[in-house]
Amino acid sequence: MTNQIPEITLHDGIRIPAVGFGTYKLKGQQGVQAINTAITNGYRLLDTAYNYENEATVGEAVRRSSVPREELVITSKLPGRYHHYDDAIVTIQESLLRANLDYYDLYLIHWPNPIQDNYVEAWQALIDAQRFGYIRSIGVCNFLPEHLERLENETGVLPTVNQVELHPRFNQSEQLKWDTNNRIVTESWSPLSRASDLLQDEILQKIAEKHHKTISQIILRWHYQLAAVAIPKSASPVRQKENISIFDFELTDEEMTMINSLTKPDGRLKDQDPAVYEEF
Ligand SMILES: NC(=O)c1ccc[n+]([C@@H]2O[C@H](COP(=O)([O-])OP(=O)(O)OC[C@H]3O[C@@H](n4cnc5c(N)ncnc54)[C@H](OP(=O)(O)O)[C@@H]3O)[C@@H](O)[C@H]2O)c1
Repeated sequence: MTNQIPEITLHDGIRIPAVGFGTYKLKGQQGVQAINTAITNGYRLLDTAYNYENEATVGEAVRRSSVPREELVITSKLPGRYHHYDDAIVTIQESLLRANLDYYDLYLIHWPNPIQDNYVEAWQALIDAQRFGYIRSIGVCNFLPEHLERLENETGVLPTVNQVELHPRFNQSEQLKWDTNNRIVTESWSPLSRASDLLQDEILQKIAEKHHKTISQIILRWHYQLAAVAIPKSASPVRQKENISIFDFELTDEEMTMINSLTKPDGRLKDQDPAVYEEF
């Protein structure tokens, strides 16, 4: 039986699943197999990036799947080294060619790189790429309120999605609030904190026992109740299923507060603060 994942509607009317599938590190034939299995297991939102060097892997998994292309929400991302307008347009075309797709459902600026300060130019390229039919919905990753405000002030267009590092050790409560107030959907990258020792946390273990669920399922349910779209990656078919079997129970307000209490100001996995960190 496939798992039915609820959908949410972005501010441009595009609908996306409330949980997606991360593909970082899934490459080659094994990657095709893992992503294809994820689709069979019920995932419909796939998250890749130009810099993961696996857009072709994702495209092949989609082609081998019996699920029609139009039922999938395929995401890719623009690398920091291609923020200049002409480079960005060609890179989006290259992304499509690599995946052998006619369009992406979502295309995101991967990092703002504010020291380079070319992200508004990159955003203008995404706006135009959407007009050209290359992309259905346009968004960003790792943008802070100050970056989002500039996009709106200089182009009049706010992203539909802001994909940020978000897990119980770094719950992004302020950014999440800002995004929500501006009708931007927050997606959570490294939602399981990359399977760190968080998956042995005693508080989470107690909550998991109470609900007869695993710690990963508790964390992913927490994301869902925060209205953040988690995109867990797993190469394992068993864990892929586990990660979307989260729609048959509910965390109480008290449990949500307990999980939020695990957050720390320095809780990022690798100290990648988008105000200063840049990625190319
Ligand atoms: N926009 C950005 O800047 C950015 C940055 C980082 C990541 N991302 C995206 O976010 C996606 C997810 O983040 P991530 O891959 O960094 O980390 P993650 O999804 O938090 O964790 C992945 C790790 O958790 C393990 N895992 C998955 N499900 C599990 C379960 N139920 N129980 C125990 N272990 C489990 C996986 O191992 P197995 O594969 O062996 O199951 C893998 O080692 C990425 O794949 C990528 O698409 C975006």
